[in-house]
Amino acid sequence: MAEFRLPANSRVKPGRSHPGKPGAAKPRRFQIYRYDPEAGDNPRLDTYEVDLADCGPMVLDALIKIKSEADSTLTFRRSCREGICGSCAMNIDGHNTLACTKAIEDVTGDVKIYPLPHMSVVRDLVVDFSMFWAQYESIEPWLKTHTPAPERERPQSVEERAKLDGLYECILCACCSTSCPSYWWNGDRYLGPAALLQAYRWLADSRDEAAGERLDELEDPFKLYRCHTIMNCTQTCPKGLNPAKAIAEIKKLVVERKL
Ligand code: SF4
Ligand code: SF4
Ligand code: FES
Repeated sequence: MAEFRLPANSRVKPGRSHPGKPGAAKPRRFQIYRYDPEAGDNPRLDTYEVDLADCGPMVLDALIKIKSEADSTLTFRRSCREGICGSCAMNIDGHNTLACTKAIEDVTGDVKIYPLPHMSVVRDLVVDFSMFWAQYESIEPWLKTHTPAPERERPQSVEERAKLDGLYECILCACCSTSCPSYWWNGDRYLGPAALLQAYRWLADSRDEAAGERLDELEDPFKLYRCHTIMNCTQTCPKGLNPAKAIAEIKKLVVERKL
């Protein structure tokens, strides 16, 4: 029987242990993926003990505490710590989510933290977003019009504006795309749920006049039709959005314009 294993140099090895200070009131263990591609060593899982009695409530609080007090080499992205910038996306307790909005107390047992899956690791929890941003750019995420600009703004009714709810809130964290099996296998050609939700955001905008050309670009066996409605994307989105529904709406528009 065929045996599928990671290549020897990709297997995660047990790493270093960083015990907490003696006498901690609420000790908790964090197991964190560490990898420096330039060092040539295998990835490893380091263990850090953190006193939750002296730490903020979110996983990001613990990461910042570890970095400032125990191990300054730990590398991760973060900015807003409010669930707005999308930069602290990572895999925590087996789910892609935002470290700044994931409560430590919602995790049972050791808190296991890995980078977003199926992305090249730049270092530790930082992954390479080059392809993800190129895919986002490819859907031309801006208002496109052909009619002459009005003297004032292009008006939009309350009802038309409401159609953007559930779309405009996307923070491009990539939690959805990196949880999608279709994106894992065809990430170079399938746009993935994040870029497709953004594509639909512009298709749904009553002021945009480029629906035809947008659909021409999207109607492709790989860019759009690799979505098989597995729904991981919707389950994992930390903003509670529904990329799978947005993708279904795009497919519907493609069919409708042929009728
Ligand atoms: S749809 Fe949700 S999970 Fe996907 S990029 Fe946007 S905010 Fe992140
Ligand atoms: S619904 Fe589509 S985009 Fe979402 S996880 Fe499934 S295959 Fe991927
Ligand atoms: S730090 Fe900005 S979303 Fe978490």
